[in-house]
Amino acid sequence: MSSCLSCFAGLICMVISLLSTPASSQTDAVQGHYPPGWWDAPGSFDDFPVADVDGEKMTIIDPWVYLQRMGMFKLMVQHTQGYFNSWGYNNTGNLLWGLPLQFGWQMSSGRLRDMAVADNQRCSSESRCVSPNSWWADMNYYLSVLPFLGALNAGVFSPLKHTVHIAKPANVSDKVEQKFCTSIEECSVNHLDIIRGWTEFFERVKVDATQQSPSIDPDQDATIALLWKAHTTSILKAQPLFTEEVNLLSLPERKFGEGWALLVEFIAATHFETDLNNTADQQINLPPRILKSDDKVPFIRDFTPAQNRVLMAIDFFHSTNDDTKGLLLKFWRRAMCSPEGRKIGRDLMENIVEHPLITIRELFKLLWGLFKYPC
Ligand SMILES: *[C@@H]1O[C@H](CO)[C@@H](O)[C@H](O)[C@H]1NC(C)=O
Ligand SMILES: *[C@@H]1O[C@H](CO)[C@@H](O)[C@H](O)[C@H]1NC(C)=O
Ligand SMILES: *[C@@H]1O[C@H](CO)[C@@H](O)[C@H](O)[C@H]1NC(C)=O
Repeated sequence: MSSCLSCFAGLICMVISLLSTPASSQTDAVQGHYPPGWWDAPGSFDDFPVADVDGEKMTIIDPWVYLQRMGMFKLMVQHTQGYFNSWGYNNTGNLLWGLPLQFGWQMSSGRLRDMAVADNQRCSSESRCVSPNSWWADMNYYLSVLPFLGALNAGVFSPLKHTVHIAKPANVSDKVEQKFCTSIEECSVNHLDIIRGWTEFFERVKVDATQQSPSIDPDQDATIALLWKAHTTSILKAQPLFTEEVNLLSLPERKFGEGWALLVEFIAATHFETDLNNTADQQINLPPRILKSDDKVPFIRDFTPAQNRVLMAIDFFHSTNDDTKGLLLKFWRRAMCSPEGRKIGRDLMENIVEHPLITIRELFKLLWGLFKYPC
């Protein structure tokens, strides 16, 4: 009798734990998705210092400090929550999550540190500084400060107490300093198309404050397209500016970085949704540290098999696109011009970790097959 009771109690316990585990582990899973420093980053303009610039009081944001750049992302994510409410629970459907998550991975994998000096001098990953001598940090500038200025330009943050001033990196030559800017006006001189792209995106996701409940967007795909257009414009314009910085990287890391920048073009064409869960799920397969000169893809021992396979896939797309003089990307874009094609493209991208051994012939055959869908 007693043994039966305890067995009955045990059963209840098991049922209870079965019922409760998924819910709590789900919350844990989402908590684990947030980028490092998210909770400590400034979440309001008042959290940034105010100082005199040319006789005017301004809010100073220093994107060369990890938490402050993270804070720019936080402001963008928070101020667009109204639009993305219908995209997923508690703003997890916000497409902007892709940006801070990438930045967080760059920090935790040591990619934001000063590459001109030996490991752990000046900018260690612990001190969380963002060095202008890091190719990744420079490229990310065009995916953090420029989107932020686009949001500012679109009036997403209005009204503001003070004008925003973006700090320049310290201790760099004039030549390097010129690649960065302090305001919408200054950034528009050289990068009007990037500012325009991001402004267009933010105008679309801006929620009218007078509107009680935002209406559901009937064309989400158009929003995703605007995001990717701005994103790829940023990368395309930034890449030629940082050839000196890319040369500070080891050869395998340089190949990975350039391959990754190109792969983003392929991902963009599929209209991948860079929400919190999707980005976090895909990003665990990115290399967790900088590649060293003697790292041999796909045989890097301290990487997971999936991380090795992603590196191999990136190599494959990069070298195939080079060998075909850019034809692969052209074909890919044409194949992705229909919703049906994009669905197949997304599946292919998501499963590339499991099936990386697709051949060039097979890939072109697959893309050719997608041409039957009208654009
Ligand atoms: C909603 O997301 C925010 C972070 O953006 C988090 O602080 C909060 O705990 C979440 N709320 C719930 C109920 O999950
Ligand atoms: C992300 O995952 C959490 C937990 O599984 C879920 O509650 C949330 O709705 C998901 N968000 C989206 C946009 O799918
Ligand atoms: C810039 O250089 C000065 C003087 O060498 C130094 O005190 C300061 O810490 C440097 N700043 C950064 C961000 O490296």
